[in-house]
Amino acid sequence: MADSNGRPWWAHAVFYQVYPRSFCDRNGDGVGDLDGVTARLDYLTTLGVDAIWLNPVMVSPMADHGYDVSDPRDVDPLFGGIEALDRLIDAAHARDIRVTMDLVPNHTSSAHPWFRAALASPPGSPERERYIFRDGSGPDGSQPPNNWLSIFGGPAWTRVTESDGRAEQWYLHLFDAEQPDLNWENPEVYDDLEKTLRFWLERGVDGFRIDVAHGMSKPRDLPDMDIVKAEMLLADMDNDPRFNHEGVHDVHRHIRTVLNDYPDAVAIGEVWVYDNEQFARYLRADELHLGFNFRMVRAEFEAADIRHAIENSLAAAAIEKATPTWTLSNHDVDREVTRYGGGDVGLARAWAMALVMLALPGAVFLYNGEELGLANVDLPDEALQDPVWERSGHTRRGRDGARVPMPWEGSTPPFGFSTNPDTWLPMPQEWSTLTVEKQLRDPGSTLSFYRSAMRLRASRKEFDGTAIEWLEAPEDVLVYRVVDGGLVCVLNAGSQPVALPAGDVLLASAALVDGKLPPNAAAWLT
Ligand code: NOJ
Repeated sequence: MADSNGRPWWAHAVFYQVYPRSFCDRNGDGVGDLDGVTARLDYLTTLGVDAIWLNPVMVSPMADHGYDVSDPRDVDPLFGGIEALDRLIDAAHARDIRVTMDLVPNHTSSAHPWFRAALASPPGSPERERYIFRDGSGPDGSQPPNNWLSIFGGPAWTRVTESDGRAEQWYLHLFDAEQPDLNWENPEVYDDLEKTLRFWLERGVDGFRIDVAHGMSKPRDLPDMDIVKAEMLLADMDNDPRFNHEGVHDVHRHIRTVLNDYPDAVAIGEVWVYDNEQFARYLRADELHLGFNFRMVRAEFEAADIRHAIENSLAAAAIEKATPTWTLSNHDVDREVTRYGGGDVGLARAWAMALVMLALPGAVFLYNGEELGLANVDLPDEALQDPVWERSGHTRRGRDGARVPMPWEGSTPPFGFSTNPDTWLPMPQEWSTLTVEKQLRDPGSTLSFYRSAMRLRASRKEFDGTAIEWLEAPEDVLVYRVVDGGLVCVLNAGSQPVALPAGDVLLASAALVDGKLPPNAAAWLT
């Protein structure tokens, strides 16, 4: 279905990322669930989102909180089972909110029946051919087959013990040892993915966010990598043999042929590739509809850096006449308030960047809690759950600090997130001032600001456009104009107030000072 401008529904949509463990817990076990999401849909309507992206809810031992899937065609009881998803889809559709799901094709859980069968079968068996098993290197095969590192730390290979006492093979896992990588040269793996895609599409799902969309295919000879500082997903992955191998495009073409049977469905890839030409290849007409471009996430709060991120994101999408995407944070990175310096300054900059992002042409992805101005939480060691903490030998704290549950109401934890005070990650008392309840009542809150911004974005024709032009601006200031629509966005990343161009201020992230835009602020003008 096209919108009133003739664009596909997702082309100018605001997607809201729900991290299901942390959104709302209805059954009182301290972990969020799908009935919790359903119960809060009115909130999402109030906010003005077009679609939800749910992090994985399939059956999983939760070694990586759902990114280790043991049954891709069922919902984990922790999240309420498949009926809870049906209820959510129905209720969301009744409110014109689409529901997209995470799909994890790069790997399965080690508890998946396929992997269990692989371990129980000899080297060279068809069961092993669904994964990437290799003999070790060194005279007795006791060294890993190559030097690849897991993104979470440590080697990307784990050795298995054979039942018949023969030399043990190793299996590849780019993430946790509980997440063995699938072998995408095996047609059975393709067939199974197709089954999974159709299963969810038939249940009414509106599309998929595809996990590690640049990772599925591996070069056959598995060459060594250059050991770089393999810092989570933010490391530079261009020219890294673990990722962005040519064969991955066959997988995307296959996914697209299935989605073409459901013309409204969207495929959004998690593509940590920075070279524009390489990135654009994922957006060819027969591959993904959208690709996450993470340049904005990587940009410092610095005018030249932000401009560079915007220009390159637009340029990469333009190569294939594809829709650009914008995101400031997600469940894998520090929250932007923290990245931009924390405290009042970090928050002011986050507001400013929200205006920069929401005026750009394309699809926007918000991460739950971003609209409340949440910052990362410093969690004590004993609370940490991300496998990164263990696998890095306690050198990287991992992503839990950006995954703390949402504060809804009341003045003490768990702030209406759950009836159970023992939430899966502890919630800080300081969040009593940041609850949805308080922020809805306060016209000066982050939530009220986001609501205003999103209402304007959805309703004003000034935001309609497929390109921007840069207007002249002092150093440390960015000014762009949406071509066609005409909206002007000004960002002051410097240290002095700046005069605004002519026009009416539609919304500003901070009060003007003598008619000027203060530092760490942005404004929209018509
Ligand atoms: C990317 C996901 O966003 C992240 O959370 C996950 O740990 C890895 N892929 C592995 O699935």
